Amino acid sequence: MKITLVTPNEDNARTWGTALRGESAFDVTIVTTALPAANVLMNGMIPEMLLVETTTPKDFLALEALASAHPEIDYVVVGNEPSPDFLLRAMRAGVREVLPAPAAPADVLTALRRQARKRAQLDTTRPAQNSKVLAFVSCKGGSGATFVAANLSHLLTEGGQRNVALIDLNLQFGDAALFVSSETPLSNVADVARNIGRLDADLLRSSMSQVAPGLWVLAAPEDPARVADVTPEHVRQIIRQAREMFDFVVLDVGRSLSAVSLQALDNADEIFAVLQLTLPFIRDGKRLRNVFRSLDYPPQKIHWVVNRHEKDGQFTVDDLKKTLAIEHVITLPNHYEAVAASVNQGVPVERIAPRTTIAKALRDLAKEIAPAPVGKSRGWLTGLFHRSPQ
Ligand SMILES: Nc1ncnc2c1ncn2[C@@H]1O[C@H](COP(=O)(O)OP(=O)(O)OP(=O)(O)O)[C@@H](O)[C@H]1O
Ligand SMILES: [Mg+2]
Repeated sequence: MKITLVTPNEDNARTWGTALRGESAFDVTIVTTALPAANVLMNGMIPEMLLVETTTPKDFLALEALASAHPEIDYVVVGNEPSPDFLLRAMRAGVREVLPAPAAPADVLTALRRQARKRAQLDTTRPAQNSKVLAFVSCKGGSGATFVAANLSHLLTEGGQRNVALIDLNLQFGDAALFVSSETPLSNVADVARNIGRLDADLLRSSMSQVAPGLWVLAAPEDPARVADVTPEHVRQIIRQAREMFDFVVLDVGRSLSAVSLQALDNADEIFAVLQLTLPFIRDGKRLRNVFRSLDYPPQKIHWVVNRHEKDGQFTVDDLKKTLAIEHVITLPNHYEAVAASVNQGVPVERIAPRTTIAKALRDLAKEIAPAPVGKSRGWLTGLFHRSPQ
């Protein structure tokens, strides 16, 4: 495991370095300088773990910037002032563990061993148990299907305890990767389709970008002209492979009903149809419900999500239930500031504004979707997750 140790303190660099180098599984690089001046990504070699000592607010700002650009690194921080505010900011930045300074070499080693163990558990070669495929479809453009799919994917990882694949099947104008990452993906669905003859776990994993612990994204093609390269059979095989590797496979199907998107819906265990409570959305929601009926999808496979819900709107949830003849509707509140900040920065809303109503509603929905841990009560939605794969 590649570990980079950054500290401006020479004694710590020496004693921590000696302790870490005694561990045969650790390949340690030591950088004796403050973080803003350190080239942590030594010659483009991104470490898997970064142990960093922050002694000034400037160091911490550099850490926040680095963590937001490289969420795939596990950060362990030694801080000289671990106040509640510092801890909260570190947690939001995605830091795995904070140790108060001065930290003994043995404590640093224990912390890194602990994180290394957790990281090893994220290996996607581990077969997924009871993998679920969830498809998100827009009743009409702009309903928020991508926002909801991307943010739920992030929440379903439970901070890296589960492996989740977010696959963008909105082939023409897909943008799902940008909702959870600011980096341009290296590979996409069309690249996998082109190599479908040798599709296996390694090919799929290397075509995906890990954007957060446990969260892997397969982006849509950059070039809309590449849509024709992807056939329904490719999509079926990609979903089947992803099902073997991930605990949850989240498909952003978009708004068009094509042979490819119908293949995705057929292969999903659950479909989330996202709409808003205005007449054009309700009208298209009814059309989509008719399509689902004509495809013989059982009603329990479909979940209706009213996004950007506002209580004083012209139409109520009951109006929608009556119009679509459905019993359950999931509502997610409108929250312009939090969602705009999240979407513009490519950071999940849970990371950027965890206390907002939209972050809380998404957390509640993720808890309903994810099977409840043993001994905990099951939510109403988990009871619906019983269908076997198609
Ligand atoms: N709950 C919400 N509150 C406020 N704004 C929201 C919310 N959900 C989504 N939005 C806004 O709506 C915009 C459209 O969302 P999104 O791109 O997810 O829709 P979509 O259904 O995927 O659209 P398309 O059909 O174009 O793929 C987002 O840029 C976001 O700013
Ligand atoms: Mg979309």
